Amino acid sequence: MRAIAIDYQCRRVRPLDMPEPSGPGGGEVVFRVHEVGVCGTDRELADFHFGYPPEGETVLVPGHEALGQVTEAGLDAPFAKGDWVVPMVRRACSPACPSCVRGRRDLCVTGNYRERGIFGLHGYFSEWALDNAEDLVKVPENLVDFAVLLEPLSVVEKAVETALRIHEPGARTALVLGAGPIGVLAALALQLRGLAVSLHSLEPKDHPRARLVRDAGICYLERAQGMTADIVVEATGSPQAALAGLALLAPLGVYGVLGGTVARGELRFVDLLRHNQTVFGSVNASPQAFRCALEDLARFDRRVLGRMIRRTSFREFGDSFEEPPGAALKTVHVLAE
Ligand code: BGC
Ligand code: ZN
Repeated sequence: MRAIAIDYQCRRVRPLDMPEPSGPGGGEVVFRVHEVGVCGTDRELADFHFGYPPEGETVLVPGHEALGQVTEAGLDAPFAKGDWVVPMVRRACSPACPSCVRGRRDLCVTGNYRERGIFGLHGYFSEWALDNAEDLVKVPENLVDFAVLLEPLSVVEKAVETALRIHEPGARTALVLGAGPIGVLAALALQLRGLAVSLHSLEPKDHPRARLVRDAGICYLERAQGMTADIVVEATGSPQAALAGLALLAPLGVYGVLGGTVARGELRFVDLLRHNQTVFGSVNASPQAFRCALEDLARFDRRVLGRMIRRTSFREFGDSFEEPPGAALKTVHVLAE
């Protein structure tokens, strides 16, 4: 079958011919991969900043934001041919740590977890894939058009739930930093929970992303100096922006770091202490966060979701793994044409 590979020997992303998955065993499911979304993680993989291939191999099939349709289900798998599925990305460490044992691989404490399409396991940028049924989320037919956003949305849901839970008197205002897919999805999720949401990013105010944010009823800010919010979600990927964002946190505020993975700089603990503020980091998602993501996806404005996605063919992976998408937020490759 056709796939693509991140090749650690010749250091490039290239087409790959690989055997179709065999099976499925009792609890397993084989599915046709229909769509794969590309995110900043994939671009870091393609830059060899991040990730590694399965043990003993020199290539990694990327793709962790996938939508598939079941072609064959094992006898013990609660799926039927034709069901739509989205895989969860992370697989437990072994021997499993207490978090992995209780089904919270997203909170794995050993760091020995693996992630499909990222750390040590092939992803879904291939025509077919095989998974354990327990690693798949069933998607209702009416959400299929946008279900490729479920995985990034699950990451957002986990962080939003954490922020709201931590904020002592109950948050009323939120500021999201960054107008990428994570930022925009976070703004939409916070808005659904009744918060007054603003989003600050560097795009000029007539940029398609800025317009999309405004059309969704979210206040778009080219500048955020002087304002504060109860919850600040950092989704910029920029260390400077991540640190500067701390100044925008109200007393008792909660700051969720989602994008600034390489942020280094001076953190003024005295400010955190004086204002009873919390800074937390969040990665990956729980099964519960995937369930929340399904619920929210059904409640978001479908026109807004539609404008977030730019669909392209299998073959165009070269561009999407190199460059961030311009106007649209998310490049999605259609694998089953
Ligand atoms: C994925 C997460 C994953 C993280 C780190 C993100 O792009 O959405 O599921 O845990 O990368 O590998
Ligand atoms: Zn991702």
